[in-house]
Amino acid sequence: MRILLEQLNGLLSEEPDPIATMANAAAFLFNALPGVSWAGFYLLRGEDLVVGPFCGKPACTRIKPGRGVCGTAFSERKTIVVPDVHEFPGHIACDPDSRSEIVIPLFGKDSVPFGVLDLDSTEYSRFDEMTADFLIKASEIISLRLND
Ligand code: SME
Repeated sequence: MRILLEQLNGLLSEEPDPIATMANAAAFLFNALPGVSWAGFYLLRGEDLVVGPFCGKPACTRIKPGRGVCGTAFSERKTIVVPDVHEFPGHIACDPDSRSEIVIPLFGKDSVPFGVLDLDSTEYSRFDEMTADFLIKASEIISLRLND
């Protein structure tokens, strides 16, 4: 996992454009982790979280803060791991085949969240503690680049 973090850091270094950064980060995570069916970003635009760069099937375009896994992680400012999406009240099923999910808030320099990193899997319990730890570190690398 440490090597993957170094690769991600290298991939994102020296590129200031936020869309390029998020597009490559989504593609990197999607391809680095087996069993991931969707990896991407939702970003606060006005009052909604709006889908950003991602890899996977087309997804819901807008999510209200406080709604679904993404909106809840954003509003509560904490990572949410969902081993079985059917057990999460209010889960928004963009892909009916999705079984587990992790959403990590992304923080600006002011420690205020500006969006989330979201990964889905068609496997139950895909995001174990080690994978969650890796993705939180990956999100920190991505946020640093986006806040630069
Ligand atoms: N399942 C998410 C919606 C986004 S998609 O998974 C890409 C949610 O409940 O917020």
